[in-house]
Amino acid sequence: KYLGLGSAVATLPSALLACSSEAKEGFVLPQNAFTQPLVFPEEIRANDFELVAESTQKTLAGDAPSDIYTLNGALPSPTIRIKRGQSLNINFQNRITQESILHWHGLIVPPAMDGHPKDAVQPGQNYNYRFNVDQRAGTYWYHPHPDQLTGPQVYRGLGGFFIVEDDEEQALGLPSGDRELPLIVQDKQFNSSGQLTYNIGRMDRMMGFFGNTLLVNGRPAPYHKVSTNWHRLRLLNGSNARILDFSFSDGHAFHVIGGDGGLLEQPHEISSVMLAPGERADLLVDFSRYEKGQKVRMQAEAQNGGGGMMDMMDGNRNGGMMDMMDGNRNGGMMNGRQSRRGMQGMMGDRDRRGSTSGGEADILEFRIAKEKQEEFELPGRLAKRSYPDASAADRSRRINLTMEMMQGPAINGKFFEMMRVDQKVPQGALEVWEFTNNTMMPMPHPMHIHATQFNVLERSGGELSPHERGWKDTVLVGAGETVRVLTKFDAPKGLYVFHCHNLEHEDNGMMANFEIT
Ligand code: C2O
Ligand code: CU
Ligand code: CU
Repeated sequence: KYLGLGSAVATLPSALLACSSEAKEGFVLPQNAFTQPLVFPEEIRANDFELVAESTQKTLAGDAPSDIYTLNGALPSPTIRIKRGQSLNINFQNRITQESILHWHGLIVPPAMDGHPKDAVQPGQNYNYRFNVDQRAGTYWYHPHPDQLTGPQVYRGLGGFFIVEDDEEQALGLPSGDRELPLIVQDKQFNSSGQLTYNIGRMDRMMGFFGNTLLVNGRPAPYHKVSTNWHRLRLLNGSNARILDFSFSDGHAFHVIGGDGGLLEQPHEISSVMLAPGERADLLVDFSRYEKGQKVRMQAEAQNGGGGMMDMMDGNRNGGMMDMMDGNRNGGMMNGRQSRRGMQGMMGDRDRRGSTSGGEADILEFRIAKEKQEEFELPGRLAKRSYPDASAADRSRRINLTMEMMQGPAINGKFFEMMRVDQKVPQGALEVWEFTNNTMMPMPHPMHIHATQFNVLERSGGELSPHERGWKDTVLVGAGETVRVLTKFDAPKGLYVFHCHNLEHEDNGMMANFEIT
């Protein structure tokens, strides 16, 4: 189950991974790039509905159809949009050939509604969800959560937006309707005939699975016509493992107004935003700076995986890396030279450099096609400050992100076990969770806690990014970093999980249970 190679040189945060020019070839642009329109998932605004997961085939890139999963026949999955205070009754029907269960990422729901892997239902079975949505307006999402199968099921298409609206947010008059764009960005691997592949070897379990093509709402490199108005982009990194840094091709600035758990206190002007798998950013972009007829592209730069890493293994960029591997505590680990050889052997005839390298790609083309119809003024304040005071915390808990030899990354030295309670949290407790990334090899881990929204207090490796200064449920913990988050456990008593949102890490057991008691 937990096979892996203990000495794999792993992925790096941005500082170490200064992508070389050759890495720009890392992502493949389809031949018909920017000829297909961007599509949006269909929206469900009902309170009582079905979500039916099915296996089917669809052409995503190239000519050959790929094996995919759909929800209600759609890829990406439908967007659920609901007003705060509403109740939902969702009948999930599993008609794929694997067990599955849905999780509402970022929502605070009772344990039996949360999609714990123990609740997975077999093919042909249903699961009934009934819960009330009572939390801040924001860009949440949902996806499958079965033990060891989350990666393949998200990869093949299951997962969509869960948008919560409330009066406080609506009073701001933010761009809506055709000026509100939910964008789920995911990297996928296509073979030469254009079929989606997901072959997980030991290396992928160790580092995560990286694809050669970036899809936006299920399509490679689409275009979208916009007017010279402000637009709201709800951006979700729905990749299995890829950390992406988003910006515009002309370097223009935009504003971030929200993170995982809804609006920030105020907008921040930025020119790029880095999101790890599972993270969201709510952005406002003013297209009035452009003239009708102009084009601007959104681009994404890989922040882990692939080319840069392989260069480093070849030893031509970072000598310290091999020293680190040589100087490890575990005698069983190979030295630098041997590991390089081992690594090449393991890569076999698959061209890892070509197929998974980092780099940057244009992912979406905005065509300025219409003059402005609406006036919008960026509000100076967005939401009231509402975080608890860290000095009032009941306790602080250390969570060590560790690397188990030959097995992969784990939490406090352990791999996930379905019913083992790893942390007990008294209901109502205000706690500081301190994630320390000790994985020895430089490997970032986006850590996600279910059933809560937290406030990131600090990261040892530097300043918080603007989108990290609001409510969050997923936070990137860089190599060697300690990140402290403050969170109050008000969810109903029962069993929930926290885990790395690199889905191969999660599937490989980098997940733990906590019980609210
Ligand atoms: Cu988005 Cu437990 O996951
Ligand atoms: Cu979650
Ligand atoms: Cu991880």
